[in-house]
Amino acid sequence: MAQNPPYKICFVPRSKEEEEEDEKIYKRYSEIVATLPTKEGWWGKPIYQYQGFWYNSGAFGVGPLAVQDHFKPRPTDVLVASIPKGGTTWLKSLVFAVLNRKSHPPSAQHHPLLIFNSHDLVPVMEMMLYSNILNGNRIPRLDILPSPRLFGTHMPYTSLPQSVALSSPRIVYICRNTKDTLVSWWHFTNKMRSNNSLEPMELEEAFDRFCKGMTSPGPFWEHVLGYWKASLERPQNVLFLKYEQMVDEPALHLKRIAEFMGCPFSSIEEEKEGVVDQIIKLCSFENLSNLAVNKTEENGSGFPNRVFFRQGKVGDSANYLSPEMMDQLDRITKQKFHGSGLTL
Ligand code: A3P
Repeated sequence: MAQNPPYKICFVPRSKEEEEEDEKIYKRYSEIVATLPTKEGWWGKPIYQYQGFWYNSGAFGVGPLAVQDHFKPRPTDVLVASIPKGGTTWLKSLVFAVLNRKSHPPSAQHHPLLIFNSHDLVPVMEMMLYSNILNGNRIPRLDILPSPRLFGTHMPYTSLPQSVALSSPRIVYICRNTKDTLVSWWHFTNKMRSNNSLEPMELEEAFDRFCKGMTSPGPFWEHVLGYWKASLERPQNVLFLKYEQMVDEPALHLKRIAEFMGCPFSSIEEEKEGVVDQIIKLCSFENLSNLAVNKTEENGSGFPNRVFFRQGKVGDSANYLSPEMMDQLDRITKQKFHGSGLTL
């Protein structure tokens, strides 16, 4: 078996029989996906609509279907869920650092977050674990990971496997205000388009598609609302975080995250040692974006790590969107969230 650090997912080659069986299963999923509505995608491959949400096709295409059938949660699992561009990379780093702080103190010289991108430490289920095309016919050995296991997902709450509701792992969700999410997504899209030798997409086009709910997995508003409602109904299972609030008061929210995950900071010892501040510093945009691993390498889902770091600022969308675009997004957001108690 491949030697991996214990916190990192290990993949093993499939036997011939497993490979054949898997091929059959994935062929069936691909056939289902082929019957679903599609539209032109963001960076080359089409997007398809499944259970009301749009997903990128290509290597990840069957991921959500496979997760629904095959993911076996443990009650101790932690899922980092997010809307893409909502602060996923940051939240994954924070959650990993908090959960593993005993074995990997945040001040350690060789902390895993200094060596690996957080997407490799907290792999997205539907992209990195349950998309066999991408894994090159290797099985992720999730069963040998010590508890608490840590996974990421962009799947909407309503599409998470039934087993997640039954087994009640903890879900930490992050989102961000509509305008910054759109502008961050647009920049990300153009980095991906450039990697695929495609012309940049105009902001107007990205805006139009975003408003029509076609980000992946969008609609943005329905994604956010799904987790918001779940956090009200099952607060012990779903923690709902906003990027802007985390930027404003990182220590407060880091403590909330630790408590929610069942590993609160011990006020006397850890506060004296400054563990909270060390984690915030370790996971800061300035620190992570300047690491060699995040400047030059790719993560396991094939994305260059650098595309996940741009500015990390609140309100940068005002430098790109016209007043009319800002008004329109505010109007849609207000209308969609009406009566929910949520504001972004
Ligand atoms: P901007 O494009 O506005 O800079 P995601 O991780 O969900 O893909 O979101 C990416 C956004 O989070 C980008 O926003 C990126 O710069 C920002 N980001 C990445 N790492 C961060 C960190 N450690 N702290 C704060 N923001 C971060």
